[in-house]
Amino acid sequence: MSVTNVALLQIEKEFIKVFRENGYQLIDQLAEYLENSHSANKPVVNLHEPEIEIDYWQNVEIRDLNDFHSKLIKRSIRLHHPNYIGHQVSAPLPDLALLGLTSDLMNNGMGIYEMGSAAVAIEHIVIQIFSKHVGYNTKESNGFLTSGGTLANLTALLAARSKLQSEDPQIPNSKIHLLVSEQAHFCVQRAWATMGLNDKNLHTISVNESYQVDIDKLKSTINEIISQSNKIMAIVGCACSTATGSYDDITALTSICQERSIWLHIDGAHGGAAIFSERLKKKLFNGVHLADSIIIDAHKMMLTPALATAVLFKNHLYGYDSFKQKADYLFNESDIDPHNLAKRTYETTKYMMSIKVYYLFKKYGIEYIGQFVERQTNLAIWYYNQLTVETDFECAHKPQTNILCFRYVDESISELNELNQFIRQELLNEGSFYVVSTVLRDSYYLRVSIMNPATTKHHLTNLVSKIRSIAATYPNR
Ligand SMILES: Cc1ncc(COP(=O)(O)O)c(C=O)c1O
Repeated sequence: MSVTNVALLQIEKEFIKVFRENGYQLIDQLAEYLENSHSANKPVVNLHEPEIEIDYWQNVEIRDLNDFHSKLIKRSIRLHHPNYIGHQVSAPLPDLALLGLTSDLMNNGMGIYEMGSAAVAIEHIVIQIFSKHVGYNTKESNGFLTSGGTLANLTALLAARSKLQSEDPQIPNSKIHLLVSEQAHFCVQRAWATMGLNDKNLHTISVNESYQVDIDKLKSTINEIISQSNKIMAIVGCACSTATGSYDDITALTSICQERSIWLHIDGAHGGAAIFSERLKKKLFNGVHLADSIIIDAHKMMLTPALATAVLFKNHLYGYDSFKQKADYLFNESDIDPHNLAKRTYETTKYMMSIKVYYLFKKYGIEYIGQFVERQTNLAIWYYNQLTVETDFECAHKPQTNILCFRYVDESISELNELNQFIRQELLNEGSFYVVSTVLRDSYYLRVSIMNPATTKHHLTNLVSKIRSIAATYPNR
């Protein structure tokens, strides 16, 4: 098709007719995908070696959009399958996915207010809701949505560094330090490296038996840093950690940071949605309103499609310090400019992520999210209680959220790491369950994150039986 023809097609009625017909068919295909996934009558994952997959897509004939779509679904992992209990990515509410289509088609850039007035106003409301539930004073706080927790953590840490530099403009990079749990997500280290700061000044603090940052160790490291006339740019608290879903002691962290005027940043990418449950908030987030910044991924525990992360600052002015580039073609000179979002976000053009989170809040309600987080957490605790009474299973920790690490044990086999690696690989080969893994204190564990509201005790019990039957086939007995 020539470029001229494409341009003409855009304005032809025929083009819209085809869009409508394809759209109806596409929705039917997706509804079928949901039905097949929920009833678990398809494998959760259909994995091939990358070379085979590339070869397939290189050579396959694609007749039309619906043909492409059906082939794509067949070869993709199904997050809506109840046996998907792998990485921390949501099985999105279908309504919210439909709004993704709106965002893609309307393509309101959102970097500046004019390029997405509705979505920008909606983002403002969404951020107010997040801030209120953190416990911030919504007149003083502010924030925005950005593309994922990795970018959100970087953005917040850039703001923390700017604050430090504004207080001490001559401070050399070699004097700037950061403290974080050794269980923190790797993106904190990535942010540090991106900021060009000294590797040696990033202190990864050891954890207690529950994989929470060791508060005494943290305090002694702070004292050591300060005694050498260095400055602490921030302490990052995990709420929760990735591997085991452990929440650092936020009350202790806030009191340390308040006492010493240190920026406290909370990485709530996975566990931050617990602020929407009164019960969990009281238990896990006591004092969080004193943190200087917090991030929360909607695409993890809020049933929202990726990516949509809230970055929240206790003081709205901090949000302007991450990026200070001048752009005459976009912005005016005014410093405080809450509605031209690209002044504060890493992105310039940004997709309309706010509309999904807004609709989630409006249609389903805050309580719904809180109840969802509680349900998934209770299910993980139930699973932990089940596995701990079994002699052939061992759990690494008691869950505080929907993440549990455990392994199969067999007295007759000494190489438990290899045995559990074998189990995971076989699960993957069969495609019956999708579970992931991690290494804790040199031991290999199977790891589940119960992301899907369709996953029940029944599915988790089936996983136990499946693991036992695979273990029975382990060749190195
Ligand atoms: C605690 C934590 N922080 C940050 C991230 C990174 O978030 P994203 O994948 O949205 O970039 C993750 C991802 O799993 C996480 O668990």
